[in-house]
Amino acid sequence: MAEQSGHAFDQAWLTWPELPKGTKGTYRQPWMTRVIASSKTDMGQTASRELQRGLERLFGVNIEILDQMDQGESGVWLGTLANFRLESIARDISVEQMADLEGMGEEAYAIWPLGPGVAVVGASDRGLLYGAFSLIRQMATMTSLQDMVGQNAPANPLRMLDHWDNLDGSVERGYAGGSLFFSQGQVLPPSSRLTAYARLLASVGINAVAINNVNVHGEESYFITPKHLADLAALAERFRGYAIRLFLSVNFASPVEIGGLSTADPLDEAVQQWWQDKAALIYSYIPDFGGFVVKADSEFRPGPFTYGRDHADGANLLARALAPYGGLVIWRCFVYDCQTDWRNRKLDRARAAFDHFVKLDGRFADHVILQIKNGPIDFQVREPVSPLLGAMAHTHQMLELQITQEYTGQQRDLCYLVPQWKEVLDFDTYAKGPSSTIAEVASGKGLDRRLGGIAGVANAGNDPYWTGHPLAQANFYGFGRLAWDPKLASTQITAEWIHQTLGHAPLLVDALSSMLHDSWRIYESYTAPLGVGFMVNPGHHYGPNVDGYEYSKWGTYHFADHHGIGVDRTEATGTGYVGQYREPHRSIYEDVQSCPDELLLFFHHVAYGHRLGSGKTVIQHIYDSHFEGAEAARGLLARWQQISREVPAQWAERVAERLAWQVQNAEEWRDVVNTYFYRKTGIGDERGRFIVP
Ligand code: GCU
Repeated sequence: MAEQSGHAFDQAWLTWPELPKGTKGTYRQPWMTRVIASSKTDMGQTASRELQRGLERLFGVNIEILDQMDQGESGVWLGTLANFRLESIARDISVEQMADLEGMGEEAYAIWPLGPGVAVVGASDRGLLYGAFSLIRQMATMTSLQDMVGQNAPANPLRMLDHWDNLDGSVERGYAGGSLFFSQGQVLPPSSRLTAYARLLASVGINAVAINNVNVHGEESYFITPKHLADLAALAERFRGYAIRLFLSVNFASPVEIGGLSTADPLDEAVQQWWQDKAALIYSYIPDFGGFVVKADSEFRPGPFTYGRDHADGANLLARALAPYGGLVIWRCFVYDCQTDWRNRKLDRARAAFDHFVKLDGRFADHVILQIKNGPIDFQVREPVSPLLGAMAHTHQMLELQITQEYTGQQRDLCYLVPQWKEVLDFDTYAKGPSSTIAEVASGKGLDRRLGGIAGVANAGNDPYWTGHPLAQANFYGFGRLAWDPKLASTQITAEWIHQTLGHAPLLVDALSSMLHDSWRIYESYTAPLGVGFMVNPGHHYGPNVDGYEYSKWGTYHFADHHGIGVDRTEATGTGYVGQYREPHRSIYEDVQSCPDELLLFFHHVAYGHRLGSGKTVIQHIYDSHFEGAEAARGLLARWQQISREVPAQWAERVAERLAWQVQNAEEWRDVVNTYFYRKTGIGDERGRFIVP
């Protein structure tokens, strides 16, 4: 693998290993060795260089970049629609075909046959960049030229990464080394590593990045002042070259904490003026600044509640300041009482976001997007889909996923999240009748909204492999691909990632793909059972601790006693959370018989002898899944050992080391959980396996 910007493995899925001989033969035509760079803008040139690099790697030949195509010549032509129209080549296509291309959205691209060669036509330079990466990706996965032909546009206007990075260089819930942007109280100057990162983002179509932690306090509150804006503008400029807009998380109490005002009340005129001045200042440094991400009235962060105002008042205050410049307010809905009373079983954290926000529908300014976590609690390995998604017809919404594996193994355990995200995206909210999937709701289309998108809490840091566990790169890649097109099959995404990152040997592709695909369910099977969640060590959230949060203020309980376990969230006898869903989900979840097994303990409190849809009792399911999960974790290591010779030695070793940790972690979970329930219930394993008494 080639060395670049300090780390041998920096290029991740832009490694583009050389194609096998036979495949090269089917593509190789004389025109393949020429890239005709029609767009002369910086971004157009970047796209041409990427294509050159990609083709050189995949085919192992030199590729020349030409300025224009001479009569009778051919090649890979790369330009925008405007270039296409101007150059004589446009005459090769019919009026209808041209009209079709003209209708493409701004970020779209088309791949088009052009004489014996091929044209990549971007609706804009951004589209062109995406088109160049797409052509390489499709060649790397050996797609035939005929199958490449057509247009492609992103489903989501906003495709965003949220970094939870702090100015001291630490990363909240980061498992891949320190921050890519900050160190020891300084904003880092743009480096080749930052460029390498921006390339990765652009290659999967990410177009927005928030670089600092949503928990904004201390020095980070000064990001929106001249103290840091010049440094941040330098990062924004580097990202801009790859069609990515910079966002910042801000502190709602800034007018007080850094502005010297006595209040941050959103209805106070001096506060309004303060934010307007700040917006003007920010845009004088960063003309295409994306906007603010805001965590307010959540987990001790300040917000409008302090002043007796609601979230619409708070969000609109900031939206009014940013609107003249086209900036957005991304207002998070992770709002709940984290000082709750565990003794009161009618209180339910799962209800909180819906209860706070639905009543505000229609009150948010046009530049506000509500960012909603996929589940009602907090990024657990299994949760139902948040009923808030799709519940506000007059409000822009976007989906928030967690790529960083806070509750899903912390990039020590393998847990490929693309299958989980697919289930979320395919969930039907019935917001506008059947087929109102989360994918439709998030993009805005399903609610006839202009804005929308998907944000992922980033899992990358300054680790040489970007993500700690090298295989966690697949989550990063997969997130970007799904944000572009939620309809992509997870198997396709996985194959793309393997071919572009590691190679093309069928054994490698098949075996690694199945390891990745099995891993989410394996992780689920040895951790908290049947959707009940948590059971992790408090604070850092790794490893088992069944009662770790049981008697705390955080609102995440399982209520296990001698007879049964689970949270009654029904309307009939529980917290009523089920009532936040539309039909048919409401009835399905309400009834213990129709509730899906994997969510049973999220919605119901049942006896250990309760029979699941699978036919097993709850207690036997707990034992079986934990024995099987630990065994399957060991199996992952064995499977890796069979294929690891196909990948670079250091890569293989790092993965093997992580998988060995995972085996230990899974055994720890198995034993702690099984023993806990054996002691609670006195019921033994039907199959007589050893459980520590
Ligand atoms: C989780 C996580 C926090 C994070 C919070 C959020 O609770 O543990 O570190 O700040 O989510 O999404 O705001």
